[in-house]
Amino acid sequence: MSKRIGILTGGGDAPGLNAVIRAVVLTARSRYGWDVIGVREGFDGFLTGLPTITLDEENVSELLARGGTILGAANRGSPFARKVTLSDGSVEVVDVSHEALEHMAEIGLDALIVAGGDGTMSIAQKLVQMGARIVGVPKTIDNDLSGTDLTFGFDTAIRTATEALDKLRTTAESHHRVMVLEVMGRHAGWIALQTGVAGGADAILLPEIPFDISVVCDKIKALKAAGRRFSLIVVAEGAMPSGGEQSYYIATQAGREGKLGGMGDRVGHWLADCVEAEVRVTVLGHVQRGGQPTPRDRWLATRFGSAAVHLVAQERWGTMAALQGNRVVAVPMEEALVMNVVDANGEMVRMARDMGVVFG
Ligand code: F6P
Repeated sequence: MSKRIGILTGGGDAPGLNAVIRAVVLTARSRYGWDVIGVREGFDGFLTGLPTITLDEENVSELLARGGTILGAANRGSPFARKVTLSDGSVEVVDVSHEALEHMAEIGLDALIVAGGDGTMSIAQKLVQMGARIVGVPKTIDNDLSGTDLTFGFDTAIRTATEALDKLRTTAESHHRVMVLEVMGRHAGWIALQTGVAGGADAILLPEIPFDISVVCDKIKALKAAGRRFSLIVVAEGAMPSGGEQSYYIATQAGREGKLGGMGDRVGHWLADCVEAEVRVTVLGHVQRGGQPTPRDRWLATRFGSAAVHLVAQERWGTMAALQGNRVVAVPMEEALVMNVVDANGEMVRMARDMGVVFG
């Protein structure tokens, strides 16, 4: 039976989202003969009446290698908590989820595929409980969602961050400097850990292991005593000193999660006070989210997008495509709501410690 399915990309963008859109369109049209409608700017598109886009083979033909998302993304705008300006100018947070469902029906969608992180999956799951026909595709550069071994966007992010660390190494070596690189990842240290190991960092500071800065200072001094006159320190944006707090450059307010950032700078200042070397800090920021997805991310995004269409065909509402081992399977969306963090005592951290890396 012919269907009309929608796709939206919610939350922050991640390299590979366009590859998901392409895979959804090609699978839906080639395998099932369905129409695909792109909903713009996440769930906001349902609420603000943004025009939808009819997606076909032609308008997705150049998407595989393109970063970002042609549909736009929004990491605000939950239909369950929407800010509405009242006639007296005051702002109220209201539940407009029924309107989102009405708009879905008005557009004539038989089903919806959402590509997003924990926030998007949480909204989707609640809409499914209200009767919506939705399946998911997990996405985040942070790789911090449970239920799937990997999310697309992560590989591109660690490649970008590792390239940055490789570049910092050569200039650190020339100037005998301590280079601090702050990377993203929210409350999980996956980007920091894998970048740090891939780029040969001497210290890696993770949210999962509160650090003692004197351990990092001692490491730098020991390296210097052994003749290595530069050091590389990777700091996750969510790292914190033991007994201290994470660093936010935008505080949490009115129910909106704050923005982590600034720990690299703090670490730089602390190190400058305890080692006899120049210290420089680089904050990589959104560079990690941009640019072309790696082949590995294109591959995973394509597998997820195609699998999501099959989940629609099987009417497995409330599930999302996930990678387990080397197989793409369906898991309940709520699994993505549990944060997947680095095991502080796990094999990966132990391996790095065994090679002399300190975690503070
Ligand atoms: O979740 C992806 C991510 O890039 C995090 O690593 C980072 O903390 C956050 O999004 C940044 O969000 P924004 O794009 O809203 O600044």
